[in-house]
Amino acid sequence: MLAPPAIGHEEISPAAAEDTLDPTDWPEFRAQAHRMLDDMLDYTEHIRGRPVWQPIPQAVRERFRQPLPAKPASLASIHRSFMRDILPYAVGNVHPGFMGWVHGGGTPVGMVAEMLAAGLNANLGGRDQVPIEVERQVVGWVRELFHFPETASGLFVTGTSMANLIAVLVARRAALGAGVRREGLAASRKRLMAYTSAGAHGSIAQAMDLAGLGSDALRVVPMNRQFEMDTEGLDEAIGRDRSAGLTPFLIAATAGTVDVGAIDNLAAAAEIARREHTWFHVDGAYGALAMLAPGLAARLEGIERADSVAFDFNKWGQVPYDAGFILVRDGRLHRDTFASPAAYLRRETRGMAAGSPWPCDFGPDLSRGFRALKTWFTIKAYGARRLGAMISNTCELAQYLKRSIEREPALELLAPVALNIVCFGYRSQDADEVNRNIAIDLQESGIAAPSTTTVNGRLAIRAAIVNHRTDRSDIDALVRAVIVFGAAHAGRRARDGQA
Ligand SMILES: Cc1ncc(COP(=O)(O)O)c(C=O)c1O
Repeated sequence: MLAPPAIGHEEISPAAAEDTLDPTDWPEFRAQAHRMLDDMLDYTEHIRGRPVWQPIPQAVRERFRQPLPAKPASLASIHRSFMRDILPYAVGNVHPGFMGWVHGGGTPVGMVAEMLAAGLNANLGGRDQVPIEVERQVVGWVRELFHFPETASGLFVTGTSMANLIAVLVARRAALGAGVRREGLAASRKRLMAYTSAGAHGSIAQAMDLAGLGSDALRVVPMNRQFEMDTEGLDEAIGRDRSAGLTPFLIAATAGTVDVGAIDNLAAAAEIARREHTWFHVDGAYGALAMLAPGLAARLEGIERADSVAFDFNKWGQVPYDAGFILVRDGRLHRDTFASPAAYLRRETRGMAAGSPWPCDFGPDLSRGFRALKTWFTIKAYGARRLGAMISNTCELAQYLKRSIEREPALELLAPVALNIVCFGYRSQDADEVNRNIAIDLQESGIAAPSTTTVNGRLAIRAAIVNHRTDRSDIDALVRAVIVFGAAHAGRRARDGQA
């Protein structure tokens, strides 16, 4: 390396400094920034004092339909707008009473780490920088967690929908060879077929569509009574397709189905994939991180044999949104699926363009944020053991909710509780309609926020206990409120029926 020449940055004239977007009054900005940080810490510390969610007044919506602002506004006034119009009307997944869909609760650690990442403004597409080493460190931890080899690759992405798409693209590349990247599906006469269960998330079918294979090329295998993929049905579907001259190329199993939290028999699916020479993908959007919990990890047996695993740190891992992840056993194949030479992305052995391969070689994104930092902070600050204990606790709370439902004659359980999702309903005539209204009432009351789904053709109130802040008092409040709202709706319908 040559000694650096003595060249300093030129003095910036005060007039030029005003042309930048940096504050002109740093002390004032600093004080304002501290107020903003304090407000978010207050929000998190006192979250229980707030409703989980509240309906959005029309006047608030209207304030987000303004023309493009030409003139600057003070940061203090924008912050006031945030406190008045945005913060109170978020969906509420920081709140322990939030039990809808599958949303993580976030942590103050993740929040401040996200601020550091924004300050650094790192672009993790590539180049030789320690932020990429941070991402590689997390990739290493993920490999260790899933017992994957050193040659496995990993990448942060937006979420599991993107991770599932990447997995399908790598599997497609494995099945059709390098030609598929240039010639598309015309590179082969094979009709590729994939297999998943009826409980799989819609992003698997979407990935088949986006990969040009078509969602019709996804065989939906029935579930058994535990809502797990019927592996005999899987075998039969593959056999039928082979006899018809089609080419099975991918089995996508699920660890933690979105509706009820079932875990497919991963070991059996892995064995079928080995025998049939297909790619074995596990969609573990939230369930894969059960690997952190010693009491649950055994239930994921077989995941260590997967060719790829998709999951989100922002769900059970409590990392703030977004922090999806894809892990691929064959790192070289993963790279061969995405890497493209480009003059402006030339690699060197020293200087900033060193450090190849770069993250942009493993996925469709060139510019990428520093998602790894909030994840690295979270894992370091809490440690794998504490995160695992938190995950186990959410499953214990789900069992507590299950027991409360079983004790309560007005309620019925609608699906087995395998992990942290409980599907149940209020017993009544027109139960679907009553339960749909109970879920909406709960959300609008601000007491608790479950979502709904359909289980065996019936509408279920669905409580996914993902948030690390949820405790038994939140479960008790949910049960009490369901009974009160349920009685009111069932009574009203009975009266309407008589009238
Ligand atoms: C099993 C499963 N797969 C995929 C997804 C999609 O994940 P994301 O919302 O991160 O795209 C979800 C979302 O809840 C899910 O539960």
